[in-house]
Amino acid sequence: MVKVNHLYIHLPFCARRCGYCDFYSTAGSLALAPAYVEALLCELQEAAPLFGALETVYLGGGTPTLLGGDLLGRLLAALTERLTAGAEVTVEANPATVTPRLAGELAAAGVNRVSLGVQSFNVRLLANLGRAGSAAAVEPAVNVLFGAGIVNLGLDLIFAVPGQSASDLKDDVRRAVALKPKHVSCYELSVAEGSAFQRRWEEELKQQSAVSLLYYETVVDILEDAGYKWYETSNFALPGWECRHNLAYWRGADYLGLGAGAWSTVGLKRWRNPEDIDRYVGGGFMRERHWEELAPPQKAAERLLLGLRLKQGISMAGYEGMFDYVQLNLLLRNGFLQTVGGKIYLTRAGRFAANEVCARLLQNWEETGAGG
Ligand SMILES: C[S@@+](CC[C@H](N)C(=O)[O-])C[C@H]1O[C@@H](n2cnc3c(N)ncnc32)[C@H](O)[C@@H]1O
Ligand code: SF4
Repeated sequence: MVKVNHLYIHLPFCARRCGYCDFYSTAGSLALAPAYVEALLCELQEAAPLFGALETVYLGGGTPTLLGGDLLGRLLAALTERLTAGAEVTVEANPATVTPRLAGELAAAGVNRVSLGVQSFNVRLLANLGRAGSAAAVEPAVNVLFGAGIVNLGLDLIFAVPGQSASDLKDDVRRAVALKPKHVSCYELSVAEGSAFQRRWEEELKQQSAVSLLYYETVVDILEDAGYKWYETSNFALPGWECRHNLAYWRGADYLGLGAGAWSTVGLKRWRNPEDIDRYVGGGFMRERHWEELAPPQKAAERLLLGLRLKQGISMAGYEGMFDYVQLNLLLRNGFLQTVGGKIYLTRAGRFAANEVCARLLQNWEETGAGG
């Protein structure tokens, strides 16, 4: 039987929903958190036969730190025996929730990596994003986490935000670097089609979209100059501090996801729990999971596309039948792709146009419906 070494736990609680966010979470449900953790412990028990020794655990959300140290500690205590020595245990945190007490409790519970959702240090841009919380909370949160011994710290930023100028962007990235995180994620703002946020910012989003490539280049330049490796499309780390959990995912490893709305992929099976805290707490969710059987070519295409997001690319072995060779040759000749020693990877120019390059590379395969 397949054994899984990577675990994601979804904690869909937020103090307030941010205007741009499309992740599953709810505001005003925190009273359900103790029952939710109990349901997670049941799901963990149910999934036990699938667990190998866990190399990475990622508590994401939502805002996991809203649950507080006691509940997170109870959850993590149930995992301790399943962790390999040196396992990476990450918690996503909103800076406003980080207190010395919480940081100490997280460290004591075995958390050794925190991903802080900053998005921007600019109060005006945070307001445009419809995001509660203050930029002033970031630096104290970083100091408190470092003080608690959690040195593996990542900061998340978003760019191409309504109202953002090139100098606003530079300021955000430089302020992130000044805090000396080991890791920086910098995502281009993605906005759900038809959302209230999209209607509110329609014109401004078009303008941001026109400069987003330039902004992306600015992000990469500043972070590379500061010594960060651009190891995945939106992710940068000081050497040796890449996020091992996400790396495993991008390399196509199996993973289990627990909690409302969480996805799991094990072999050719993929399933998702319903996005509903009440049903999750009620326990009936297992019968309501969405199941998919992945066809081997679909799984291969996913692996290829995820692998191409990584700086080191992916071995071509087994994927040769999927390429559109006319496009491949064009992309090689025009400097968007390179092949070396049986590996294929995006060049620097290719990485800035990753979606387009990947679409062209698999054009023939997608058009013929070879993906099943
Ligand atoms: C699941 S969120 C959780 C972070 C945490 N709740 C917070 O907001 O501080 C993880 C990260 O995804 C990114 N993100 C969320 N919504 C996004 C969007 N619409 N476009 C781009 N990035 C987004 C943000 O950088 C965020 O920190
Ligand atoms: S960005 Fe974070 S805090 Fe805001 S709604 Fe999404 S998950 Fe919650």
